Amino acid sequence: MKEISVADYSIVYGDADTAIQRYLKNRDYSSITVIVDENTKEHCLPRLTSLHAVDISLIEISSGEVNKILQTCESIWAQMSEQYVDRHGLVINLGGGVIGDMGGFAASCYMRGIDFVQVPTTLLSQVDASIGGKLAVDFKGLKNFIGLFKNPNQVIVDPEFIKTLPHEELRSGYAEMLKHALIKDAVIWERLPKREWDHTDWTTEIYESILIKKAVVEEDPTEKGLRKILNFGHTIGHAVETISFSTSTPLLHGEAIAAGMICESYISQQRGYISSTQLEEVTHAFLTIYDDINLDLLNRTDEIIVALSSDKKNRGGKLLFSLLDHLGSGNYNIEVNHQEIRDSLEYLLTQVK
Ligand code: GLY
Repeated sequence: MKEISVADYSIVYGDADTAIQRYLKNRDYSSITVIVDENTKEHCLPRLTSLHAVDISLIEISSGEVNKILQTCESIWAQMSEQYVDRHGLVINLGGGVIGDMGGFAASCYMRGIDFVQVPTTLLSQVDASIGGKLAVDFKGLKNFIGLFKNPNQVIVDPEFIKTLPHEELRSGYAEMLKHALIKDAVIWERLPKREWDHTDWTTEIYESILIKKAVVEEDPTEKGLRKILNFGHTIGHAVETISFSTSTPLLHGEAIAAGMICESYISQQRGYISSTQLEEVTHAFLTIYDDINLDLLNRTDEIIVALSSDKKNRGGKLLFSLLDHLGSGNYNIEVNHQEIRDSLEYLLTQVK
């Protein structure tokens, strides 16, 4: 069991059951509420035998980003108040990004905030969403639009959980690991895309990725500056992801940001931050891994530009991107114009044809 300190909390890396047992020892909570969805209730909760021995209240929400909304929070708050959860209660969020973001948000607002522990069960949430205290729900179709920064009391990352994930889910989280390497560690970038990734023990890679995320959020917890580099690939990626939800082939988050990272690498190359060879390398790596995703919607340039115009990084009508400074290093607050975005979408379309 490894323990990584981040600001006022820790990320525990190892067996979740043991970690929860240790966390609860010497703490005197008046109640324990565990938030699950139908998948984590079936596949993850049974592994946490330490919770079988204590009195818990279970709140089950339906999986899926469509449920990451205020109405679901209202239902969580209603159930917590019906169960007389007071300010000394604990919430354990057992799930992926939806449960972590929304359960953390719900706990942080309930009675002005009660303790919560994140137990991320997807690769995406283990290496990214659970670390750094970003909590939010979607609002009127805008992703993570209502929320706050608040650190959990602990994050417990158990690599065993991801063993039951479908291939596409794993590949989605893998995109964030590749992003961490691209923006912060050229040495990891050198080896990571070349791995036979779904046949390997990824314990080391997950740990390395967590360390990168931790270093960034520790330096800039509320995204005043440096933390924006974590948004590399996400300006175009989020727009593409949002538009894909209205098609018959919605993209997973990692699939969309893989496309976003290729486009934003193209813009980085056009500006002379990375070389043509490096752009080819990045493009080849992503298109090899995400070889079967439908990117036809990249033709919907105007809609993509409208969608990314409400990106939270923008300021005063300017579209501000996080790009690659060079391979293994990110930069932020770079104003990008519509033509550069159009050209980057066109570039990716020609690559997949
Ligand atoms: N997922 C980006 C961040 O946590 O800042």
